[in-house]
Amino acid sequence: MPPERLQKLIARAGIASRRAAEQLILDGEVTVNGRVVRELGSKADPASDHVKVRGKLLLFTTPPVYVMLNKPAGYVTTMKDPQGRPTVVDLLRGIRGRVFPVGRLDFDTEGLLLFTNDGALARELMHPSRRVPKIYAAKVTGKLTDEEIAKLEAGGMVLETGRTAPCRVRRLREAGQSSWVEVTLHEGKKRQVRLMLERLGHPVSKLIRTQYAGLALGELPLGESRLLAAAEVRRLQVAAQGRPAEPPASGAAPARRPRARTATPVPGRRLREKAVRR
Ligand code: URA
Repeated sequence: MPPERLQKLIARAGIASRRAAEQLILDGEVTVNGRVVRELGSKADPASDHVKVRGKLLLFTTPPVYVMLNKPAGYVTTMKDPQGRPTVVDLLRGIRGRVFPVGRLDFDTEGLLLFTNDGALARELMHPSRRVPKIYAAKVTGKLTDEEIAKLEAGGMVLETGRTAPCRVRRLREAGQSSWVEVTLHEGKKRQVRLMLERLGHPVSKLIRTQYAGLALGELPLGESRLLAAAEVRRLQVAAQGRPAEPPASGAAPARRPRARTATPVPGRRLREKAVRR
């Protein structure tokens, strides 16, 4: 970690405001590696230096945070958009600390998008070898025939981003000249669902990710976010090992990680059922 100004580190550890931290430094209450530091510009490396305030060692470890967003269409999955369009970060009201999206959803796609500051878990979830399941509800022009479904499911469709792997497709319901289908992927090529369906002559007019790595949107309203429940984080940890996202067997010890900022479970009817009525 890069060295940071002492007053900033003290404030981040929750000991005092920056201004009060400056006073603590001036008063000689702060030591770095055993030496009193009184200069306000002094810096320390939170990863390797021992900073003490009135003899108490500061801890800089940030607890992991896991957030689910129900992304609306019209938001870019990025931390900052050079074109100035609204980003998913604009929707994360009330989430303390810096979290990053786990993967991405297209500008026009809605649904489940995870965020975390747990880089290791995010990397595992996004790694192609983990084959994390992602479930989408797509509204398409027309109705898919059995042959078209079989073709999609078999995989081997050549897109610009590569050859598709086998997947699962099922019809959900008809909606006039359109219909809803559910597509379960274990990979994440750019615009994959849209491109696969378009290739067969069924352009997508609406796309919603309803599940990711065994987690479901449930009743989370569009545009809202919430912390994950502890059981949901455990599901992600299982999925990140490339195993099916089932809850660990009863009595199994949860993975040893720092205590996470999580929420109590939200009772979940599946959003998919609600979403496809739109
Ligand atoms: N497939 C798509 O076409 N778009 C997404 O946003 C995700 C999967």
